[in-house]
Amino acid sequence: MPARKIIIDTDPGQDDAVAILLALASPEDLEVLGITAVAGNVPLPLTEKNARIICELAGKPETRVFAGCDAPLARKLVTAEHVHGKTGLDGPQLAAPTMALQPKHAVDFIVETLLTEPAGTVTLCPLGPLTNIAAALQKAPEIAGRIQEIVLMGGAYFEVGNITPAAEFNIYVDPEAADIVFRCGAPITVMPLDVTHKALTTRPRIEAFRAMGTEPGRMVAEWTDFFERFDMEKYGSQGAPLHDPCVIAYLIEPGLFSGRKINVMIETKGEYTLGMTVADWWRVSGRPANAMFMGDVDADGFYRLLTERIARL
Ligand code: BDR
Ligand code: CA
Repeated sequence: MPARKIIIDTDPGQDDAVAILLALASPEDLEVLGITAVAGNVPLPLTEKNARIICELAGKPETRVFAGCDAPLARKLVTAEHVHGKTGLDGPQLAAPTMALQPKHAVDFIVETLLTEPAGTVTLCPLGPLTNIAAALQKAPEIAGRIQEIVLMGGAYFEVGNITPAAEFNIYVDPEAADIVFRCGAPITVMPLDVTHKALTTRPRIEAFRAMGTEPGRMVAEWTDFFERFDMEKYGSQGAPLHDPCVIAYLIEPGLFSGRKINVMIETKGEYTLGMTVADWWRVSGRPANAMFMGDVDADGFYRLLTERIARL
């Protein structure tokens, strides 16, 4: 099977960084057509810079990185330095990237790629707020029918929220964008907190990255060491969720995940529930299914895949 063509839309973020490394380490499975940065965990100038740092760390400076939207469609940007640190990639010391940012706007890159590649051959992998993807759909609605699949990290049902009691960060930051994406008609697969909170780091899992003795292995260990402290304090858990790599792991080994095809709507008006993913897990609404909403992951298999692949870099 030829490698699946993907665009990674991202706001790095340590867990975004691990997702990008996993994708770049897997050329037999995934062809990364480009990485599009969006404002999210930290503002856009940092997310696009971080994306370039990660490509260089992976030894793939030829990867094309595009900067996209610097703010949500209709709201002020909310960031997450309290989780990811001031740079978004706090933890290890990182050198400034030398590879250039592509001159084209990320939204134009997404639109042009979907219009020029054969229909049904490009998968979008959003790992941050859905602003770039929604802006592309607004600019060229005809791309919706050409998308092979949108596999995204965002939302929650049983785990409810992490940035508010009701909402997950990526959806909360730009609920209007999420609403556009979930209504667009393209096949959607969702990795919600229900899954990612089962993909927890443990000491042995982190030490396996450090034991690789490579620069990427050491960075992944130091990044997870850094952001683990926040989730362990918050949830009282033994480790922290590696959210975004679930998207890439699904594309490589879908059998690691299970879920239900259901209707998912986005709350854009709620006073207390803004950005909630109203996921009809029990199929009580009668609304048609618009997403494959994952609920479980084989965590050992996920970390096995991650370790095998990161060790290649
Ligand atoms: C999501 O929010 C960000 O902080 C992470 O990178 C992930 O994409 C988890 O809620
Ligand atoms: Ca992210």
